[in-house]
Amino acid sequence: MAVTLTINGQSIQATDGRSLFDYAEAMGIDVPTSCRTQGKCKECMVEVVEGMSSLSALAEPECHLKGNFRLSCQTYVAGAEGHVRCHTMRRGHMVIERHAFGLPVSNREFALDPAVTRDGDRILIDGVEVERSTGPILGIAMDLGTTTVVLRLVDLESGELIADTSFENPQRFGGSEVMSRITYDTEHPGRLLMRTLAGYLTHAIEKFPVDPKTIYEMVVVGNSTMRDLFFRQSVYSIGQNPYQSITEIEMAEGKRVTTSLAQSGLRSLLPIHPKARVYGAPVISGHVGADAAACMLAVDLANEERLIAVMDIGTNTELIVGNKHRILAASCPAGPAFEGGAIACGMPALDGAIEAVAIAEDGSFRPGVIGEVPPEGICGSGLVDLLSELLRTGQMNDMGRFEDDVQRIVLYRGDTPDKDVFLLESDVNELAQAKGANVAGLHAVFSTYGIDFNDIDVFYLAGGFGRHLNIEASKRIGLVPSLASSKIVQAGNTAIEGATIALLSKSKREELEELVKRVEHCRLETHPSFFNFFVEGCQFKPVEPIPCAT
Ligand code: FES
Repeated sequence: MAVTLTINGQSIQATDGRSLFDYAEAMGIDVPTSCRTQGKCKECMVEVVEGMSSLSALAEPECHLKGNFRLSCQTYVAGAEGHVRCHTMRRGHMVIERHAFGLPVSNREFALDPAVTRDGDRILIDGVEVERSTGPILGIAMDLGTTTVVLRLVDLESGELIADTSFENPQRFGGSEVMSRITYDTEHPGRLLMRTLAGYLTHAIEKFPVDPKTIYEMVVVGNSTMRDLFFRQSVYSIGQNPYQSITEIEMAEGKRVTTSLAQSGLRSLLPIHPKARVYGAPVISGHVGADAAACMLAVDLANEERLIAVMDIGTNTELIVGNKHRILAASCPAGPAFEGGAIACGMPALDGAIEAVAIAEDGSFRPGVIGEVPPEGICGSGLVDLLSELLRTGQMNDMGRFEDDVQRIVLYRGDTPDKDVFLLESDVNELAQAKGANVAGLHAVFSTYGIDFNDIDVFYLAGGFGRHLNIEASKRIGLVPSLASSKIVQAGNTAIEGATIALLSKSKREELEELVKRVEHCRLETHPSFFNFFVEGCQFKPVEPIPCAT
């Protein structure tokens, strides 16, 4: 007997004493590394989803890892039989919205006005020479998400997109949401989270079909924690009431005039030009970060007369409501349930994920699966569909309880029971709480503004998850408000769009700097009705307007 080792869906019989890294290499699987298995770079991480007990004990270079993460170069198959399943940090295959849709035309009418310019063979950043070259002048826009990192490479002279890429944020070993990352970073000083991410970014940038040294500027957006970890700022204060980043605190003390950050390419540990500028767009306040700020730029909020709302549903859901005259923003700690986290059969939107579900007349489940493979799990949009269908067919009530004391609903039966895809009542509980946080955020922001949902002219659902949601199902379970569907725009990745605009236009970047200073931060934790809104929002029923606060 031997242990069957499955890495990224490919299997091999582990018969000798090689490491997981070596087996992966033998199967042609690309595992990130910069140290060639010395245990130093920390990039060769895998997540073990089955068979942890058949692996060698944690080695010293892995002591920074929590949960089911291992360094593949330090991990050996120790058991005599069984099955070990693991995967590398995913790149490229996820269904990622790299673009935005349905945004105002006005936001594409800005003049190309980058900070990096050419004067003969001199290349200048804000008029200061950084290089002598006649080669291209390139830049990168980056959306640094808690779960996913998206990069866009553009030509700064023509504004054209050259390439884009995405990968799973390898900082997941420090927890799946921002509070865990803050705790991890505080308990493991030494910038481990940043160094691991820098390694992955380096590989991604080196794979672009250009000389990385021709990249002279980078615009980084992300929530306050992700951005500040990247810029090696302490994130401790973001995790403590009143949840402020170092830059926000310093600005309040008059020590700085903006919450934006900048550092050189060299200091960023990236292979771009060493004198390149890496600009971290300003955060708004608290957990409402630079990604939300970039969304505002993408929807052209500075020039918007109409009343709009932007909702980016994620581990932290960002909400922005207003127009050029008044803007309110909030961040809702929804947790990772709608991204498949903390759900028994949850998974990201990868091949094998059930992304849509219908229940037929005969009661059978009709799952729509990503890729030409059998279902392996269920991703966020599939979960929304499933909840909606269970409600519609009366198999679940609006409190999230299954009928007839059923504990588990199987929507796909595999060859063996361990391959079944199912939903537990405890999963529904997790989803209810995530939804409750989002709905509470909506009610708190709208009531603080003094408007109700029907006053909104356009409701942008931003982000990849929002792009793929079934709107009617989302309304039925109360994930999005019961608005006329014609008002809802599934806009895709507005954060990367905003980052790109800031990269290509100095004047738009200045507009953003000014805009964030005008945003009122709606602190959900201090809203007097937040708890009531939350309890109400945990129920699976349409979200209707509540009477406005006076
Ligand atoms: S390959 Fe560098 S730590 Fe494993």
